[in-house]
Amino acid sequence: MRQKLVAGNWKSNGNRQFVEQLLGALKAHSDQVPAEVKVAVCPPSVYLTKVEELLRGTAFLLGAQNVSAFEEGAYTGEVTASMLKDVGCSLVIIGHSERRSLLAENESQFAEKIKLALNAGLQPVYCVGESLDQRRQGQAQAVCREQLLAGLAAVTSEQAAQLVIAYEPVWAIGTGETASPEQVQEVHACLRQALRERFGEQAELIQILYGGSVKAANARELFALPDVDGGLIGGASLVADEFLAICKAGINA
Ligand code: PGA
Repeated sequence: MRQKLVAGNWKSNGNRQFVEQLLGALKAHSDQVPAEVKVAVCPPSVYLTKVEELLRGTAFLLGAQNVSAFEEGAYTGEVTASMLKDVGCSLVIIGHSERRSLLAENESQFAEKIKLALNAGLQPVYCVGESLDQRRQGQAQAVCREQLLAGLAAVTSEQAAQLVIAYEPVWAIGTGETASPEQVQEVHACLRQALRERFGEQAELIQILYGGSVKAANARELFALPDVDGGLIGGASLVADEFLAICKAGINA
């Protein structure tokens, strides 16, 4: 009943030429993307308008990698949720582990960002995930649950169906090491249960993506897990063939 979603997080990679080449290749082979799989690309913010133009008339969705925790006004350098909506974004990644660890962002900022994104009509893709130490200490589920509930503090039950959650174990991001299907399903089920406690039956509508070294070779097995509704793809989203193959893995899963 939940549609599969595959979102490519390009991070701080590329330039104008790269953007044109990658989108050209994705568009040329867009017939390979199954109709039942929703696909989004999240370029660096300076390329959002360019990507929006190039994607016009296609089924690809546009997403941003970050949003300001401020609504509007004198916040030099910030890009607001209403601006992202204005340039054609449907979604925005919030709480990525790189922003947690490298930019010292915290859950109260994420809660604010999620609130502003929802108010602007954007789907937040809220990322949670444990570190290797936390997993070794048996805290993976507790950490993810805590991050989830803190970030969603301001979300109402009416808004819950607009949420997308991404489970991204920190130790699996960009490392080539993927969580095992058992580890993934265990955390996703725990997140689903926390969403049920928080939002009741709306929880069944919330897509929970897995992210962390997803590739064409492991996507099908991961996407077939009962509580996995697609993926958030970093490195592999920069290679058109690989990304399209991951999108195809959303079918029949
Ligand atoms: P990766 O990144 O696929 O390169 O591991 C995933 C992410 O950070 O969203």
